[in-house]
Amino acid sequence: MARRKKIYEGKAKILYEGPEPGTLVQYFKDDATAFNAEKRATVDGKGVLNNRLSEFFMTGLNTIGVPTHFIKRINMREQLIRSVEIIPLEVIVRNVAAGSMAKRLGLEEGAPLPRPIVEFSYKEDSLGDPLVPEEYIIAFGWASQQDLDDMVALALRVNDFLSGVMYGVGIKLVDFKIEIGRIYDGDFMRLVVADEISPDSCRLWDIKTGQKLDKDVFRRDLGNLTDAYTEVARRLGVLPTNVTHTTKPTLIN
Ligand code: TMP
Ligand code: ASP
Repeated sequence: MARRKKIYEGKAKILYEGPEPGTLVQYFKDDATAFNAEKRATVDGKGVLNNRLSEFFMTGLNTIGVPTHFIKRINMREQLIRSVEIIPLEVIVRNVAAGSMAKRLGLEEGAPLPRPIVEFSYKEDSLGDPLVPEEYIIAFGWASQQDLDDMVALALRVNDFLSGVMYGVGIKLVDFKIEIGRIYDGDFMRLVVADEISPDSCRLWDIKTGQKLDKDVFRRDLGNLTDAYTEVARRLGVLPTNVTHTTKPTLIN
C-alpha cells in the first residue's frame, strides 16, 4: 500500500497530501497542549470532536458566504481542505475580557468590552505568539493594509456568525482565534478562514452557570476536557445523542 505524504505536523493536527492538486487532508490528533506546548496531554476523543465541530462551523460559514478552506469531512478524524498559504498571524476577536487581555490590562475576567476587539499575534511558539500592532505586520510584509482591512472584516463576520450560533444553544462566545490563508486563482488572491474552529481555539462559557466549555478546562485543570467538548457538540446537535460516551446502554424488552 502506498504511504501518503505528510506535509506538516503541528501540535493538534497533521496535514497530508490531498487526492487532487490544491487539496490537503487535515487529520485531528488527540494531543492537547497549552502555554506554547509547556503543558501536554493526550485527551481521548478530542480529535474526533474537533473534526466534527470544525466541520460544523466551517460549513455554516461557507453557507453564509464567508469563504473557508473546508471542502468536506472524510471520516471521524479527517477532513478534505483547500491548500492555502497561511498568513503567520493569529487573528483574535474578543467580546468579553478574559485570558491574556484580562491579565495585560488588569481587567476582571468576564468584564464586557465596549465593542468586539480584533487583535493580531505573530504565530511563533518560541516567542510565545507575541501580540503585534498593525504597523509591524505591514512593515515586516506579513500582510498589506488592504489584507488587514479584509482580515478584520472577515474576523468580525466570523464573530457575528459564531456568537449567534453559540447564543442559540445557551453559550457565550467570549473570544476566539482564527487563522487566515491566501488562495491564488490566476491573477487574483482571496483570503479564506483556515486551520480549525473548535473549543481548542475559542472561549465558551455557559450563559446561565458560567461553566467553561473550552480548552481553559485543560489549561486551568478544571475537569474533563472531552466532557466539556461533548457538551458543546451535543447542544449543537453535531453528535447523535446515542453515540456519546455518556449514554448508558438501555435494555430493550
Ligand atoms: P488569550 O486570551 O490567551 O490571548 O487567547 C485568546 C483566544 O485565542 C482564546 O479563545 C484562545 C485562543 N488561543 C488559541 O487558539 N491559541 C493560542 O495559542 C492562544 C494563546 C490562544
Ligand atoms: N498554542 C498554545 C500551545 O500550544 C495553546 C493554547 O494555549 O491554546 O501550547
